[in-house]
Amino acid sequence: MNKQQIIESLGLEAHIEGGYFRRTFEASHRERIQTARGERFSFTSIYYLLTDDSPIGHWHLNQSDIFHAYHLGNPITYYLLHPSGELEVKVLGPDLQAGQELQFVVPGGVWKASELTQGQYGLISEAVVPGFDFADMQLATESQLIEEYPQYIDIVKRYCR
Ligand code: GUN
Repeated sequence: MNKQQIIESLGLEAHIEGGYFRRTFEASHRERIQTARGERFSFTSIYYLLTDDSPIGHWHLNQSDIFHAYHLGNPITYYLLHPSGELEVKVLGPDLQAGQELQFVVPGGVWKASELTQGQYGLISEAVVPGFDFADMQLATESQLIEEYPQYIDIVKRYCR
C-alpha cells in the first residue's frame, strides 16, 4: 500500500499538529470521568499517520497519558521534553534490534514532537486516557517553549508550527 491508499482506506484527515488522523473509538458505553478540566470519555483512540509530504507532528502537550503503538511503514522519531528539563528521544518502529520500540506511553504534561525521517509513511495508533479533548491540548508557541527549554533551542525551533 502507498500513503494515499492508507489515507483513503482508513478515512484519515489532516491533523492540526501535522500528519493525518481519524478517531477510531470513544468509550461512550461507559460513564464519563471527571477531570480538573471537565468531563471526559474514560479513553479515546486514533490512527495517526505521518507522510513524506506531512512528516512532522509539531510540538504540543496533552494533559492525558497517551499510549502509542506502531503499525505499518517507516519508523517515527519522538522528541519528548519533560517537566524536569530532560529531553528524551525515542523511535517507534519495527526494528527492535536497533532499539526501536513497538509501543510506549507519553505521560500527560510532557511536550511531544515527532518526525518521519525516512520513507513514504509511518502509521501508528494512540490511545488517550482520560479521553482526548482539545481543551487538554496545547500547541506550543516557539517563544513559550524556548523560554521553558532554552538549552534545546535548536530542536524546539525545528519542530514548532
Ligand atoms: N490526538 C489524540 N487523540 C486525538 C483525537 O481524538 N482527536 C484529535 N483531534 N487529536 C487527537
